[in-house]
This record gives sequence, structure tokens and C-alpha cells, in this order.
Amino acid sequence: MSNSALRPETVAAHALKSTDPETGAVVPPIHTSTTYARDENYQPKLRENYIRNGNPTLWQAEEAIAALEQGEAALLFASGMAAIATLTETIPPGAHVVAPDVMYYGTRDWLKRLDGLGRIRLSLFDPRHPAALARSLEPGKTDLLWIETPLNPTWDVIDIEAAAKAAHAAGAILAVDATASAAVTTRPLALGADLVFHSATKYLNGHSDVLAGVLVTGKSNARWKEIAGLRTKMGSPLPPLECFLLLRGLRTLVVRYRQASANALAIAQHFERHPRVERLLYPGLTSHPGHAVALRQMTDGFGGMLSILVKGGLAEATRLCTSLRVIVPATSLGGVESLAEHRKLVEGPTSPVPDNLVRFSIGIEHPDDLIADIEQALAGL
Ligand SMILES: Cc1ncc(COP(=O)(O)O)c(C=O)c1O
Repeated sequence: MSNSALRPETVAAHALKSTDPETGAVVPPIHTSTTYARDENYQPKLRENYIRNGNPTLWQAEEAIAALEQGEAALLFASGMAAIATLTETIPPGAHVVAPDVMYYGTRDWLKRLDGLGRIRLSLFDPRHPAALARSLEPGKTDLLWIETPLNPTWDVIDIEAAAKAAHAAGAILAVDATASAAVTTRPLALGADLVFHSATKYLNGHSDVLAGVLVTGKSNARWKEIAGLRTKMGSPLPPLECFLLLRGLRTLVVRYRQASANALAIAQHFERHPRVERLLYPGLTSHPGHAVALRQMTDGFGGMLSILVKGGLAEATRLCTSLRVIVPATSLGGVESLAEHRKLVEGPTSPVPDNLVRFSIGIEHPDDLIADIEQALAGL
């Protein structure tokens, strides 16, 4: 059976498989060396001989992620934002970029900064209206369509297949931030995307102890080679220890993601009609506006991310976060432990996120413990 025919459970479980033929160690060594000696003919023994260009632990992690995404190659960066900054370096000066107006605020702020500097021309579209995406593209002028799905923190779903068709018809490439929708459930490249991005800090690592970002491509074309070259020049590959931890986390990605999805669905169904809840946003609920598209492109669970809009405002949302006893009031997502965060306070007064929204990253705990925790916190509002 060829490696590309293996299912995600198998690819992920073998992510740490040893490459060390001498010892047969099931867990490979971590290559911490910054430099590699040349041979007797002064030729490099590896394809790179300096750590900033690449190293065996980095390549092993990249190969595992590329296999999971069914892509041709992957590049790991020191953070998700480092990957995004490197990709945006490849946008021709003054070219047009399209992105949703609600998305991870760090990416939106970065794109707005480039727009403010005159480096790119940015159009933001309302992701709740699919036609708005196509209308924002400028044929022959748009270089990059950046989408995120499901979108942080409203979990609106963008149709990847339709976005790819629209981008390609306009001569643009499509990059998908699939941080909340791991390769367990969505494979954007198979749906037509050119690039997949993950903040690997989240589900791919899954243990809230690694900062990392990854880009995966369907084709090792000229633009991909430019991104790879820029990562070396900008000095942002993921260091070996982090690569090792990421590989270790990756082994359990499928079981973690499925458990988080099952827990989140149980919580969403339980609290959707709760008297203290104004609205619950989760793409797995039939009431969610993105549910039909989610059913098509999230084939193995809707993920662990949901948001509760509490009855009341800023004060009630903050109190919900501080009254939780099991769920930790902290930022980030995709770890084994559940977290809750008041996004408006984090993103600041210019954020479009409603005052009463609390974002939950549901982990792999027993769902009844999480439901009881949210119940007791809502009861105190
Ligand atoms: C959806 C999404 N994209 C990108 C990022 C940025 O990634 P990092 O924090 O790894 O730099 C984050 C981080 O929270 C995120 O949630």
C-alpha cells in the first residue's frame, strides 16, 4: 500500500516513525545540530547543511503534515503569523488581496497594515453572503484570496470549492486558513485550494506547548519555491525541539479532533436553547447558517470551536469566563483542555466581535463535566 493511500489515522499515528536505520529506534532522534560536516569531497551529506535552510527533524514533521493534507510539500514556520508574513511577502507590490471582514484578528491586522503601507490593496468581504466573495475579486488584478473556515470566532463556513473556482477564474490563488478544521475533517487542497495554512500551535500540536505555523501546497511551483527561499532569508523555520513536539502531538490528532468534535456538538445541542443564551454559534448545529456547506466540506466532525452569545453584554460575558471552574479562561485553541475567552476584550474596541460573545475551545474531557461547568457559570450571571 503506497503512503498516499493510507488513511489519516495511520499517517498521523506513524508521524514519529524512526528514520534511524542503525538503531531501529521507534522514536527518531532530535537533530539539534545547527551545522553538518561535509564529506571527503567537500560535498554536503544532507540536502542542506545549515539549520536555517532545513534539518532532518523539520523535514520529518513537514512530510507528515504534507501526507495528512495530501499535498506535495509543507513548510513549517516559527509561528502561524511567521508563515502568513512570509506568504504575503510573495504578493507583487500593489497587487489586490481579498479576505473576509471577520477572521482571526492577527491576520486581518497584518493585511490592513500592508494595505496602509500601500504594499497591497485589500478588499474585505462579508463572509455571511457567498456572492460578496465573488464580487470582491478583480479579474487580472487580484493576486490572493485568503479565506478562513470555519471563521474565528463566529464559525461561519466558507465554501472552499466555490472560493477556489472564483479565485481561479479571476487569476488569483486561494489560500485557506484551516486552523479550526484539521485534515481529519477537511482537505482544502482536494477541494481546489492552492495553499493550506494552519496555526500548528492549535489542533496539529494539540497540547498548548508549541508555537508553530505551516503552509502546505498542492504543487511545488515557482511561488512555493519563493516562499521556501524567503523562510530561509527571513530566518523563521520551526526549530527542531518544536518539530519533535509537534510530531508527537500529531500522532493523536485524529482521536483528539474527533473527541473534541463530539464534545462540542453535545455542548452546542445542550445550550442552544438555554434561557441565559441569546445565540450559540457552532457549524454542527442545523440552525447554523453554514451548516449545509459544513456538512459537505467537514466530513469527520465540526471541530471543537463554538461561541456563546450570552444574554446581556460585556459584563455578563466576562463573568461567564471568570465563573468557570473546569474550563480555563485563556486564549488559544485546539488543545486537549477546554478554554474560554472573551474575544472583545482581547481584540480591543475596534473589533467587530459582539460584546457578549464568549469563545470556547472544547477539549477532550468528559462532556458531562464541561456541560455542568458551563451550567453553573451561566446560573451565576
Ligand atoms: C485561525 C488562526 N489563524 C492564525 C493564527 C496565528 O497563529 P500563531 O498564533 O501560531 O502565530 C491563529 C492564532 O490564534 C488563529 O487562531
